Amino acid sequence: MINIILLSGAQHLHKYLETEFYKSNIDANVYSVELKFFPDSEQYIRIPIEKGIPNYVIQSMFDNPDKKFVETILALYTLKDLGAKNLVCFFTYLAYARQDRRIKEGEAISQSIIVKTLFNSGIEKAFVFDVHIRGESEIISKFNIINLSCVNLFADYFRSFKNREDFVVISPDEGSFDIAKRLANELNLIAGYTKKKRLDGSHVKISDISVDVKSKNVIIIDDIISTGNTMLETIDLLKERGVKDIYVSATHGLFVNDALKKLKEANIKDLVTTNTVLNEFAKLDVSKIIVKEIINNEN
Ligand code: R5P
Repeated sequence: MINIILLSGAQHLHKYLETEFYKSNIDANVYSVELKFFPDSEQYIRIPIEKGIPNYVIQSMFDNPDKKFVETILALYTLKDLGAKNLVCFFTYLAYARQDRRIKEGEAISQSIIVKTLFNSGIEKAFVFDVHIRGESEIISKFNIINLSCVNLFADYFRSFKNREDFVVISPDEGSFDIAKRLANELNLIAGYTKKKRLDGSHVKISDISVDVKSKNVIIIDDIISTGNTMLETIDLLKERGVKDIYVSATHGLFVNDALKKLKEANIKDLVTTNTVLNEFAKLDVSKIIVKEIINNEN
């Protein structure tokens, strides 16, 4: 029997996972961690082991990434103590992954620290989704981490749109151009990117578009929408360049502060994300990708 434990950030995937296992005719127990908070806000967790010791863990580390990270470490060490073998984790959203290099001397490379800590707590293999990797990531190649792409979910979604020959796919920076190229390739479209300069944690400047977008419908695709400012600046530039309709898409919709409000007011045609992080625009379900990988791992 396959035993899967869902940590607090992945509760919304419960029914989707059960449906996918049912469709695949596979017996699996999907259950939840018991989680309580002490009065001082420290966490109590218990892994229910009545049905067996789980060897699959699913977690999304947003919102409250610090709490979710501590919960994850408590769960993994507990599983290790309980004798879990070949522990496989799915981090649909891996927190702290965006700082993947040291830009200023003395900075913590949080991606590397988080991954090392997770693997030290007993993971055999981890799956992440469109995680922020720019170029060759040393940490990803050093550990048994598989970076899964959600591009096919977006391709299926946009395939049903009419007049697709008028569309162009744009990434709001060169880092996400690879995702844009793969989506464009699936849809037989042209891909381009805008140039982005990050001014600080919240602000960016978007300039230049690598392809002609005048009178085109544009799909913007990125890995993460956080403050939404990257998307909003890109939308402004595209409008200046005379595009028709704008469709905004991203794997992880964090929508911090008033990002959603601003995007809703930005006069865009559509907003779509996956459910790696729960939000009201999470129309694409990653459970089928998880179940496929679990089945492969069992064989
Ligand atoms: C950064 O390089 C990522 O690909 C995203 O563009 C970025 O994380 C989006 O952040 P925000 O929504 O805060 O502009």
